[in-house]
Amino acid sequence: MPARTGAAIAAGLVILISTALADPSGDPSAASSTDGLYSDARGNPTYRISKDGTVDWYTSIGYLRYTANCLQCHGPDGLGSSFAPSLTDALQSLNYSQFIDTVTNGKQNVSASQDLVMPAFGTNPNVMCFIDAIFVYLRARSDGALGRGQPANSAPRPAGYTAREDACLG
Ligand code: HEC
Repeated sequence: MPARTGAAIAAGLVILISTALADPSGDPSAASSTDGLYSDARGNPTYRISKDGTVDWYTSIGYLRYTANCLQCHGPDGLGSSFAPSLTDALQSLNYSQFIDTVTNGKQNVSASQDLVMPAFGTNPNVMCFIDAIFVYLRARSDGALGRGQPANSAPRPAGYTAREDACLG
């Protein structure tokens, strides 16, 4: 292969890698959906935001559940507080499965001078039944696709949503 072609390919790879670093779960574009929950090409949950700002149902639920369960420590809109780090920053380096693992099992930063403890939510249905919604909301915030505050418009509730939520909450 001519050297110049090789260099062009290498340059292309650098661009691809730096794009991937910004969202460790990969390209957030919605590739498929199951009853209103969108997935990217790798199968990770993702958001879908129309040009007019209307968010998918799960992103709007994620905002509400984040606000109810995480804001007290992680601050409004995922921006962090004196109690806990910014999650819009955290999702620049944590991928979907690492996020799920941390929320399920918790985390304690033993090297910090203060005792910073992330509780384990694995047995809390009010968090775990909505964990994909919380993830897609924070993914949209971290990617810069969604601004601060409650999304003004949401896609309608998917047909099977209420039954699934009831079954999960038990
Ligand atoms: C009682 C306070 C508290 C609540 C409530 C809380 N967190 Fe945390 N969280 C923390 C602290 C403190 C850390 C930092 C722990 C560390 O660095 O060891 C943390 C860390 C995390 C991390 C890892 C960040 C990183 O960079 O590794 C994620 C992800 C996370 N929290 C998600 C959530 C989500 C989602 C919720 C709501 C369902 C939530 N947290 C609720 C206190 C909290």
